[in-house]
Amino acid sequence: SRSADFAGRVLDWYDRHGRKDLPWQQAVTPYRVWVSEIMLQQTQVATAIPYFERFMASYPTLADLAEAPLDDVLHHWAGLGYYARARNLHKAAQLAVDRHDGELPAALDDLEALPGIGRSTAGAILSLGMGRRAAILDGNVKRVLARHEALAGDPARSEVLRRFWDVAERYTPVERTANYNQAMMDLGATLCTRSRPACGICPVNDSCRGHAEGSPAQYPQKQRK
Ligand code: ADE
Repeated sequence: SRSADFAGRVLDWYDRHGRKDLPWQQAVTPYRVWVSEIMLQQTQVATAIPYFERFMASYPTLADLAEAPLDDVLHHWAGLGYYARARNLHKAAQLAVDRHDGELPAALDDLEALPGIGRSTAGAILSLGMGRRAAILDGNVKRVLARHEALAGDPARSEVLRRFWDVAERYTPVERTANYNQAMMDLGATLCTRSRPACGICPVNDSCRGHAEGSPAQYPQKQRK
């Protein structure tokens, strides 16, 4: 099927070109994946790495984070910006201690009930951190899927976003979900870039509708405000 072929080609590309050496890909735990995903929401990988290492040295477990004074946690965030992310991490760690025995929960809706964890971050924690099948849809993945499917509309609109999630769910494979999701983020970051996508070397160019149309960069279609 179209989705099986897609995932297979994405996974082959991952085996050859995907990143496997990032600090949060070593000694994988749901907690480490969570912290890395929050840092990476508004921060480039290269910038996030030293912050991640210092954060893990100070707070090796979720319980350590929950017990730490908020001011110390905010201090670890100095330079990253968007301090609400650090406040939410700290609050969510305390809630996980109260509600889930100090572990991140393994149910999508329980994860999404924690502050700072939306559907895509929950999907990343489940797939990358817990070996479950769950879809992700961050900015990079939205771009890859919008182009491959020639998805019309601005994903900032809820009815458009629903169609993006439908596609994301349909394409997410049961096997090797973590590698597939990591590959989709890497594809969006390295080949399927915002302004000049490298379609010539893309593993899914022969099925990409945006590429076939000749103007992949028009996707995703941001509405003029
Ligand atoms: N951006 C968000 N999550 C990421 C990850 N796991 N690897 C690289 N970039 C990311």
